[in-house]
Amino acid sequence: MGNSRIPGFYRLDLDDRWAELGARYDLEPDDLSVLRAAAGLTTDSADKMVENCVGVMGLPIGLGLNFLVNQRDYAVPMVVEEPSVVAAVSNMARTVRRAGGFTAESDPSIMIGQVQVLGVVDTRAAVSRLEAARQRILERANAVHPNMARRGAGASDIEVRVFDEPHPMLVLHLLVDCADAMGANAVNAMVEGIAPLIEELTGGRVNLRILSNLADRRCARARCSIPDELLAGNAHTGAEVAEGIVQAYRFAAVDPYRASTHNKGIMNGIDAVAIATGNDWRSIEAGAHAYAARDGRYTSLTEWNYEAGTLHGSIELPMAVGVVGGSTGVHPTIRVLRKILRTETASELGMVMAAVGLAQNLGALRALATEGIQRGHMTLHARSVALAAGAAAADVERVATEMVRLGQVKEEVARGLLELAQKAAPDVSEARRHPDDALTRAI
Ligand code: MEV
Repeated sequence: MGNSRIPGFYRLDLDDRWAELGARYDLEPDDLSVLRAAAGLTTDSADKMVENCVGVMGLPIGLGLNFLVNQRDYAVPMVVEEPSVVAAVSNMARTVRRAGGFTAESDPSIMIGQVQVLGVVDTRAAVSRLEAARQRILERANAVHPNMARRGAGASDIEVRVFDEPHPMLVLHLLVDCADAMGANAVNAMVEGIAPLIEELTGGRVNLRILSNLADRRCARARCSIPDELLAGNAHTGAEVAEGIVQAYRFAAVDPYRASTHNKGIMNGIDAVAIATGNDWRSIEAGAHAYAARDGRYTSLTEWNYEAGTLHGSIELPMAVGVVGGSTGVHPTIRVLRKILRTETASELGMVMAAVGLAQNLGALRALATEGIQRGHMTLHARSVALAAGAAAADVERVATEMVRLGQVKEEVARGLLELAQKAAPDVSEARRHPDDALTRAI
């Protein structure tokens, strides 16, 4: 397995990075041309994916490096446009790696399908009839997807929930083990398939039949423990940094206004992996935020505490992801990115994504509790501004660094610097290969 620790990867130019990837992850020339954007998603394929298709849109793919999860190495593809997300996660994964890596676990791939039943006259009798018919309901559901059941997955249980005034209704939950698929299509087909039987058993009228994105039977968890000396830096002792992170976590734990931003930072990483692996990031987002409010008040998805010189972090959230089905098999770029990530099962992918979320949160809290995020953000944002001002790839780094030094990250300033550079015509190739270390400092 290719090692995910690639020192100086960010310093290489794109050609050298592709060469490195090809060698480490057994990529074929065709795979590499997909990454070079010469053979990604075609408009013909895109036209078959959505209605009124008018084109395809590119986003950067970064590699989250240094991930050690349950002693396995992962280079994690991340599709994200926000500067510093990939740098921050790689940096924190390297710190955690030095501390022994992440440990992670995940639940079986159980999704919940919901059937809403209205107009039930005798609710208690309807509930008893549903419970007594459990086996029949499961058989009817599994008849919709016999292959799943044959492989030991499929519908495995039911639950009945009753809502009273002001909106009385009965809701049946169908629990479905989706194995390595995300499972939305299978679950939706099953709840549609059992609806007539549910009406017959309850005497009510079925309204909605749809999966729930609050996939709380399918959670992934990750943990890390970091000796504080690994956190020292930027004129802060490790103990100060660890204390700052714990106080930042407590802020999110008690205040939904902060928790929303705290969890957004976590999802910066998780969504980026979801997109790279062809998973439905909107469903993962919905599940994460609903889970964060499961006790009636929206709170942090992570926990941090500091004991005897060690910072302990953990995360738990629903992780409805698949490695088969959906767009995972159709999109050429996703196919190549999965070759790099090498997660074999949905559960393994969920664990890696939980570790990414925890590392992303650590990076954000560490930066926020010390120098703030603007410095790292600014350096990276300055690169986009330099590009927008027309800087050639070879000039971007120097122009960006100069704008940050001046405290003036603006297109007109970038244009002025470029004009000056043209007059002086300096050799910039060295700067391109050895950019400022902002990437590793950034959050
Ligand atoms: C920015 O995309 C994410 C952060 O706001 C997360 C956080 O505040 O924890 C930096």
